[in-house]
Amino acid sequence: MTQNWTPQTWRDKPAQQLPTYPDQGALAKTERIISGMPPLVFAGEARQLKAQLADVCAGKAFILQGGDCAESFSEFQTNKIRDTFRVLLQMAVVMTFGGSLPVIKMGRMAGQFAKPRSSDEETMNGVTLPSYRGDIINKMEFTEEGRMPDPMRMVRAYNQSASTLNLLRAFAQGGYADLNEVHRWNLDFVTDSPLSERYEKLANEIGGALTFMKACGITGENVPSMREADFYTCHEALLLPYEEAMTRVDSTTGDWYDTSAHFLWIGARTQQTDGAQIEFVRGINNPIGMKVPPELDADTLMTLIDTLNPENEPGRLSLIARMGAGQVEEKLAPLVRRVKEEGRNVVWVCDPMHGNIEKSESGFKTRRFDNILAEVKGFFAVHRAEGTHPGGVHFEMTGQNVTECVGGAHDVKDEDLSSRYHTACDPRLNANQALELAFLVADELKAIASK
Ligand code: PEP
Ligand code: CO
Repeated sequence: MTQNWTPQTWRDKPAQQLPTYPDQGALAKTERIISGMPPLVFAGEARQLKAQLADVCAGKAFILQGGDCAESFSEFQTNKIRDTFRVLLQMAVVMTFGGSLPVIKMGRMAGQFAKPRSSDEETMNGVTLPSYRGDIINKMEFTEEGRMPDPMRMVRAYNQSASTLNLLRAFAQGGYADLNEVHRWNLDFVTDSPLSERYEKLANEIGGALTFMKACGITGENVPSMREADFYTCHEALLLPYEEAMTRVDSTTGDWYDTSAHFLWIGARTQQTDGAQIEFVRGINNPIGMKVPPELDADTLMTLIDTLNPENEPGRLSLIARMGAGQVEEKLAPLVRRVKEEGRNVVWVCDPMHGNIEKSESGFKTRRFDNILAEVKGFFAVHRAEGTHPGGVHFEMTGQNVTECVGGAHDVKDEDLSSRYHTACDPRLNANQALELAFLVADELKAIASK
């Protein structure tokens, strides 16, 4: 067990990005309620994920993380969960084929509610109120009452996470994830794409492989993995009162696990070496991640790696680089080199979203498809040059046909953004944009596999 650690030790550390609850008694009561709720995930599942991530570390598997920037109470609908799940499966099939590797699927779902903000307050028309920090903390609505942090929102987020996860488990195991079906959806995507010729070849190759397997007698009836998928959940470990209340001792091993998700990550704004979020996450036994922004220097990164993964266990720690398209090669290469030279076992994941946010001319927060793709390509180029494994990709995306990011084959334009801009936080790739990226990632993976 981690030394000098309990689920409460974060309370003695300086904490960034936590709300100030006006009623401490109500907060304590809510924490007790959540501590008594069943776990959302099981320690054994987190261990299984960690073992699969160890394969990623060795270059034998690849990660796909994706979902909303922030889940919300108002957008909670069966169809939305299903569609995001479906697109993630579609992307995974394409990438599995491209890389000839298993693709580990993790949804930013069933718990991705709390958001870090660049400013504690927001001013509108001369009125200053606390910033919106995600539906688990306060309301988006710009009123004094709405922006007041309310601990009972944690209970609602827990309940929404439980129903979301219940549905995801049913989809993953109940036949919805049938490989032949997923491939048929991909064919629809290719047919409808203005760039269908570009994606056709890979889709046809997958079709050929499936037909061959069928002829050999490999079907969903006799091989369960043809119709079932392992699907994991992940979110940012930000709101520590909630994460602490969800942390339990696993009866099999006697170790602590945060049972709110399989995988938890530290965001770019809460990675102070002596800060509360780092303290909390170092003691849980789940596989964990940490965002790597361009400001993070190599020495601090090494300190954080050693705090978070003192045993240098493969699969324990994923570093999720989010550098921005313009500087990914320059900023990432020295870090990858240093980590390699010092023999640390980490998984490198590319988040091409958070370094590529801009304001469009029409005033929407957006991202350009071309910049997202350029960062992914830069990430692969760095690993090619350094002789290390590109371990995965991390996208903010949805299964809906939103207009939040510009570009892609259907060419969403700045003037289209207002028509279906629904995100509760950062702009997401829509279903078509996300699938296109999967095909382009598959090309990169294919180049590695064929070497
Ligand atoms: C996020 O993943 O939504 C996020 C806030 O990212 P970052 O911490 O990298 O800015
Ligand atoms: Co985001």
